[in-house]
Amino acid sequence: MSTESVIPSLEDMITTHSWTRLTVHCEDTTADSPGYVPALISASNVTKSYKAGSRSIEILHGISLSVRAGEMCAVMGPSGSGKSTLLYCLSGLEQPSTGEVRLLEQATDKLSRTALAKMRRSDVGFVFQSYNLVPSLTAWENVALPIRLRGKRPERFVIDQALESVGLTKLAASRPAVMSGGEQQRIALARVLAQQPRIIFADEPTGALDTRSGDMVLQQLRSIAHHPERCVLTVTHDPQVAARCDRVLFLRDGYLVRELAAPSADQVASTLTELAVDTDMADRS
Ligand SMILES: Nc1ncnc2c1ncn2[C@@H]1O[C@H](COP(=O)(O)OP(=O)(O)OP(=O)(O)O)[C@@H](O)[C@H]1O
Ligand SMILES: [Mg+2]
Repeated sequence: MSTESVIPSLEDMITTHSWTRLTVHCEDTTADSPGYVPALISASNVTKSYKAGSRSIEILHGISLSVRAGEMCAVMGPSGSGKSTLLYCLSGLEQPSTGEVRLLEQATDKLSRTALAKMRRSDVGFVFQSYNLVPSLTAWENVALPIRLRGKRPERFVIDQALESVGLTKLAASRPAVMSGGEQQRIALARVLAQQPRIIFADEPTGALDTRSGDMVLQQLRSIAHHPERCVLTVTHDPQVAARCDRVLFLRDGYLVRELAAPSADQVASTLTELAVDTDMADRS
């Protein structure tokens, strides 16, 4: 028997395996339905392609999802499955190639560049390792920056409290160059805490942290997400972190393939193992 006939192709597995292409939480009730909770982030059939020479490579394939107010959701999946790309597209940092992204119930491609920038400054917070701190500013000034960019004067106690809540009061006057990666990441979180945005996108927010600092960050993110007018969408590789989220979405090779509601860390870990096994099989086919 030839190898091709035993090992299914990726497309076969997506359509015939237990992994089906998912659309999560997109059945929208209307604003006047009882118990209506708005989706603060939603994606409808989003694709993202990059040019490689004369070819175009599709990284995200028709992603549809929504994250409602009061929710903390995790995105998981093997390295290279498109998690960061998805976060960039959902957050308006990158334009999807096709499909629609809505933030706070507004289609981002219908907003002017200025209106989108304004929404990002006031209502959207990022904890991305690659969108980090301004090197020439102190930790305190970095935390105050989004408020200044909104044309407001930062209140001292708000910034002090944000630094205290990530345990880094002692670094208020330090510049990023003298901080560890984990400390920089906690300052980036303090910046978001001071900004109080309605939506937070976080890419591996606890990746560079020890268990105690990671717990502190997670606790902060959870308390923001569980506010009735806010939500958090975070990428993580850590089943323990995912298990503290309300929902976990799994990406594989740019497809949204699975969703677990309030899973245990064991359930998350075994889903990741299944995904990795399938990815290995696809690589060998
Ligand atoms: N600007 C770009 N141009 C071309 N390809 C890109 C670009 N950005 C990302 N990719 C490709 O898209 C795929 C998904 O990348 P992405 O960074 O979203 O993965 P990820 O799931 O976040 O991985 P990791 O867990 O390692 O952070 C990868 O194959 C990557 O090489
Ligand atoms: Mg990534």
